[in-house]
Order: sequence, then C-alpha cells, then structure tokens
Amino acid sequence: MKVLVTGAEGYIGAVLGPYLAERGHDVSGLDCGFYRNGWLYEDGRRRPPVAAMDIRQVDAADVVDFDAVVHLAELSNDPLGEHDPQLTYAINHRGSLELARACQAAGVSRFVYTSSCSVYGAGSDDARTEASEVLPQTAYARCKVLVERDVQALADERFTPVFLRNATAYGASPRMRFDIVLNNLAGHAWTSGEIKMTSDGTPWRPLVHVEDICEAILLALEAPREAVHNQVFNVGSDEQNYRIREIAEIVAEAFPGCVVTYGPPSADNRSYRVSFGKIRRHLPGFRCRWTADRGARQLREIFESIAMSKEVFNYRAFTRLQQLKYLVATRQIDEQFFFREPTGRAAEA
Ligand SMILES: NC(=O)c1ccc[n+]([C@@H]2O[C@H](COP(=O)([O-])OP(=O)(O)OC[C@H]3O[C@@H](n4cnc5c(N)ncnc54)[C@H](O)[C@@H]3O)[C@@H](O)[C@H]2O)c1
Repeated sequence: MKVLVTGAEGYIGAVLGPYLAERGHDVSGLDCGFYRNGWLYEDGRRRPPVAAMDIRQVDAADVVDFDAVVHLAELSNDPLGEHDPQLTYAINHRGSLELARACQAAGVSRFVYTSSCSVYGAGSDDARTEASEVLPQTAYARCKVLVERDVQALADERFTPVFLRNATAYGASPRMRFDIVLNNLAGHAWTSGEIKMTSDGTPWRPLVHVEDICEAILLALEAPREAVHNQVFNVGSDEQNYRIREIAEIVAEAFPGCVVTYGPPSADNRSYRVSFGKIRRHLPGFRCRWTADRGARQLREIFESIAMSKEVFNYRAFTRLQQLKYLVATRQIDEQFFFREPTGRAAEA
C-alpha cells in the first residue's frame, strides 16, 4: 500500500515510518520540520523520504498517488494549544480538515487520524468509552473533537476515515519528546536522581507505548473497510490507566536510587480513565506489547548508552513549546508558524 505519513519527522512519525516500511508498505513522509534539530540517538533504521511541506499548503495533487494517509502533523499538546489557541485552530482543526478534503477529492481511500484520549478531559472516575460524552478542556483537545466531527461528515463509499484516540504516549523515539509525562519523569530520574512532583499526582492518565500506537495505525490501515469505516477507537490498554503518582513510582523503580516527592493538589483538572475494549473487538490482532515499567527501563538503557547529560535532556527541541518559541524568537518561522524564506536567499533578493 502507498502510504503518506504527515508529521513523519515527529516523535511518533520517526518510529512509524520505519515500522510501516518494514512491514512491506511503500511509505513517504511530509513534515515542515519544526523539531528537526532534536535527534536523541541513532537507531540504525532506514527512514522514508520526507517532503518539507506545511499541511496548510497541501492540495489534492499532492496526495493523489497515495492509497492511504496517516495524519500526525499538528501542534501536538495542550501547552502548545494554550500558547496560541487561534493558531492551534488554524493548524489542527482547519489544516487537518482541509487535508482530509484534499484526500477525499484525490481518491485516497483511507485516512487514519491520530486523535487523543484528552478529548475526555475531566470528570468522574468511570472509564470512558468511545460512546461517552467528550469534555475537552483545552484548545488542543477541542480541535481533536472538531476534526473528528467534521471529517466523519466526509466519509463515503470511497473515503474511509478512522479516528484513533491515543492515550498519552511514552517510550523511545530518536526524535524524542521530554514534554510527555513518563518520558519527562524518566529524564529527571536519570539526570538528577529525583522526581519532584509539583502536584499530588492523583489525576488519572492512560498511557500507551509509541510502538503500540504504530501497531494500531498499521492495523487501521490494513483492516477490512467494514471493521473500521468512520469509527473511533481508543488506543491503549485497560491495565495502563495510571494515576500520575503511580507513573512516578514506576519510573523511580526503573532508576535505582531515585527519590519521589509530591506537591499540593494541582489546578490542572485533566483526569480521565479510559476503556480500551472496542479496538480489540474490531481489530482482533491488537494488543499492547509494552507496559510503563518496560518503557521506563527502555529509556534508562538509551540514556545509559548515550550517557545523556542534563543539557541534552533540557535541549529545547525535545520540548515542543520551547522549540516553537525559539523558532519564533529567531524569526525562522512567522507568527502563523510558516517557515520564512531561508536567510541566504532573502539576502540575495
Ligand atoms: N505523543 C502523544 O502522547 C500523543 C497522544 C495522543 C495523540 N497524539 C497525536 O499524534 C500526533 C503526533 O504526535 P507526536 O507526539 O509525534 O507529535 P510531534 O510534535 O512530535 O510531531 C508532530 C510533527 O508534525 C509536524 N508538524 C506540525 N505542524 C505541521 C504543519 N502545519 N505542517 C507540516 N508538519 C507539521 C512537526 O514538525 C512534527 O514533526 C499529533 O497529532 C498528536 O496530537 C500524540
């Protein structure tokens, strides 16, 4: 199958490209390259070619050759969304919708969208299913809800969108993110021997390993149309609904000598438990092969192998918001987050 992965140079994309290619798919990527500087380690895997392009500039001609598009390219977390909500809507909602329209117009038959369990937001401790009410708390999560709604309306006999509401990811990717909970705690445990929680860690946060997300995407691409057509799936496993304090304890276990301290209850009210039964019913091959404990040990092994320093852990490109602020401050991207002309060419003009 000819597959285009948008956001191929991101945290999930850098694992997904080789994952799909190694399973026989003809993969190409598209990415504007916000975090290109952030490469934590070499994994020796062959990566597909990536076109340097913004999703807001893609039209039907750019996708006409593909059987499927996996769409990852968005501003990827809550702090980014709160930083500039209008821009989040422009890229994550309108950009994603226009991309889906281009795919539909071009005859791309499958469109796999990476939504998020953060659409469930806050509320009771009951595990949320795909039929539960959504309660998005941030611009990022509201955009996920809007894209699901608007792209579902495009589904027809030739165009099959699939919506994967991923739990919060963890685990190794060369294009690392240290702004997601388990990876962040592991980085602290390694560089300081200490996890200082600024909150009491009581909120629920389901987790899923980045490779298990890749497996869900693979199955969503390969499944018979009737199993997935216009369906929403939570991606993760019931056993990986953790309270944040449990995640801290699991990480501390994996880093011998690490001490955990807690703070007062947090004002951040995002907390949700999620049910992951539906994906297993519709995609019977799906199961999570990773646990938080194994993922934390995987990270420790990588930190050991590269002797990761505090400077590397704190490098701006591993924290999405810091890197974007840097690109704006250094005028490499404009206020709408489009890359400016390369300085060399601009200077010649
Ligand atoms: N990582 C998680 O915990 C998680 C959980 C649930 C859902 N998701 C979703 O999965 C997707 C990928 O997440 P990730 O963690 O790999 O994020 P990431 O930030 O590491 O990667 C996103 C990639 O998209 C690119 N990109 C962003 N805006 C673009 C644009 N306008 N045009 C072209 N490229 C653009 C970036 O350069 C980056 O390489 C996102 O949509 C995210 O919301 C992630």
